[in-house]
Amino acid sequence: MTNQLRVGPNTRVLVLTGAGVSAESGIPTFRASADGLWENHRIEDVASPEGFAKDPTMVWRFYSERRARAATVAPNPGHIALAKLQRDLGDRMMLVTQNVDGLHQRAGSDPVTEIHGGLYKTRCTHCEREPFEDHDLYMTEGDLPFCAECAAQNKTSLLRPHIVWFGEMLNAADLHRVTRFISNAEDLIFVAAGTSGAVYPVANLVYRAKNSGGRTVLVNADEVQNASGFQQWIRGKSGEILPTLFDIEPPV
Ligand code: APR
Repeated sequence: MTNQLRVGPNTRVLVLTGAGVSAESGIPTFRASADGLWENHRIEDVASPEGFAKDPTMVWRFYSERRARAATVAPNPGHIALAKLQRDLGDRMMLVTQNVDGLHQRAGSDPVTEIHGGLYKTRCTHCEREPFEDHDLYMTEGDLPFCAECAAQNKTSLLRPHIVWFGEMLNAADLHRVTRFISNAEDLIFVAAGTSGAVYPVANLVYRAKNSGGRTVLVNADEVQNASGFQQWIRGKSGEILPTLFDIEPPV
């Protein structure tokens, strides 16, 4: 197969995924589809700190609906292929996802860098406690969750989804691990799958990979906004392309 990527004994593979990778599982993407998630909502209402301050009930309902939806779907062959790749390559493979749906983890990927946060994690808006796993649904004002640790100190603090919203910084340690993975690679393959390249700084990773001498490959159904960073575009569905994309040379 001509589109196969040869993975040599010193090759490192960085895979960045976006909403398109979960599309075949039945989760709507954000853009470029008639039922795109952002089509029905104003981004600034449901995915910004200002939106949350204004109407936390609506924001929690939005993420609760996504929690409920993601729980009913299953990983697809694209997720499963990436989990296998990671098992085969160990720490020569890094998986970075902008998806918050947890499907990579459910397919067996470990570790997964959830660069935009996780749908099933909640954190306090005030105290520094670690984000914690949370599958609960908060649909009405009466359901709004508050921090028990703050309550123990007579403070009332709302809990919020552990999602990187527009206008917020990425986790610096995550970003540092990704850029270190790129700069430490002698022979790098960077694959972006199912992401429209519209959201920065993640959309810049392809340029970093290219500038450090990496081979840059896009697996995507439609055109992307950071197309100039890619040397190759394999057009189509990630669930069909990823399972046969990598040709791993056996160790010598
Ligand atoms: N296989 C491959 N690509 C697909 C598939 C598929 N089965 N289905 C859709 N696509 C492509 C679309 O053509 C589109 O280019 O996936 C891309 C999805 O793009 P977006 O909806 O913009 O999603 P993403 O790039 O992940 O968004 C980035 O934006 O809204 C924020 O924080 C949110 O993490 C998200 C970020």
